[in-house]
Amino acid sequence: MNKNKIKKVAILTSGGDSPGMNTAVGSIVKAANWKGIEPYFVYEGYKGLVEGNIKSAKNFDIDLYMNLGGTFIYSSRYPEFKEKKIQLEAKKQLDKKKIDALIVIGGDGSYNGAQALHNLGVKTICLPGTIDNDISSTDYTIGFFTALETITQSLDKIKDTSRSHNRCMIVEVMGRYAGDLAVCSGIAVGAELIITPEKKYSLNEVIDNVDYQMNVLKKQNMVIITTENIYDNLDEVAKKIENKTKISTRACVLGQTQRGGRPTSFERYVATLMGAKAIEILSEDKHGIAICYVKNELVYKPILEALSEHRKSFIKEIELFTKINQK
Ligand code: ADP
Ligand code: F6P
Repeated sequence: MNKNKIKKVAILTSGGDSPGMNTAVGSIVKAANWKGIEPYFVYEGYKGLVEGNIKSAKNFDIDLYMNLGGTFIYSSRYPEFKEKKIQLEAKKQLDKKKIDALIVIGGDGSYNGAQALHNLGVKTICLPGTIDNDISSTDYTIGFFTALETITQSLDKIKDTSRSHNRCMIVEVMGRYAGDLAVCSGIAVGAELIITPEKKYSLNEVIDNVDYQMNVLKKQNMVIITTENIYDNLDEVAKKIENKTKISTRACVLGQTQRGGRPTSFERYVATLMGAKAIEILSEDKHGIAICYVKNELVYKPILEALSEHRKSFIKEIELFTKINQK
């Protein structure tokens, strides 16, 4: 008899929601039931954990929710969780319900929370859930491809109208401080300029670029994609471009539309695999671990290692496609 056998596992989603979180939650519940481990939902991320908002998921009809967007167990941003006394309160809540392990689905901030709990003796596993794709240990985070698809569809529409008006559009996409959504969507639609934290342009450089492409090369239209958190006020940027170049220019911030929607089939596929893998690993009494998808395979590594890896640089892709699309 294995005295370390996990009997109860709790699941929480944390940080910005992402399409595919529900699929991962559903897969964990199904795999746990199959292994004879009782699954629990923690509602509202770390906040709900500290408040003891934890309910059994054993008889929950997961199929109703698995492939919907958002997270049906809700999420939160709860900065208080950085404090040790609050983390200890969370551990107390798990102990009170005799829950042996916790699976956290979120981004790098949520991973830090899971590592803190691991340091206190809670058996934790992390799954990458964020549209930003900013967890370097995995090629792909759950939600990224759906958000990319949503952005690409929006950009196609924006291109239709900008072409009709001989216009320049500057479009802001999410990613927090990661340029992946901007680079991949920009390449997907053939954007004329891609601006990310690793390839920033000053306002004057943007103006010169628009002037060159629209007034010298005489392009019919132009789409610029920028990652958020680079320019303070995109409307102001658009006005300044228009004033200097005399090219009609509009700003468009895609905002929260990028985070919603049903997960794509690939998203569901990987989220399902990751959820089942988390239970498999816990059954082997391994914890303090992050699940990753690398070169089309599921792998896992210590959370700390997952947090410390260097991010892939997209600089070569940005430079190449910027040249190609500026001809
Ligand atoms: P994401 O997980 O998507 O990166 P956040 O950075 O907002 O999103 O983090 C989500 C939550 O994780 C935070 O609101 C907080 O509750 C918790 N968290 C973030 N950083 C830490 C940390 N250093 N230590 C403990 N908990 C953290
Ligand atoms: O981390 C996901 C994300 O969508 C980021 O891309 C963005 O910076 C942030 O969350 C926005 O959060 P909120 O919806 O809370 O403003």
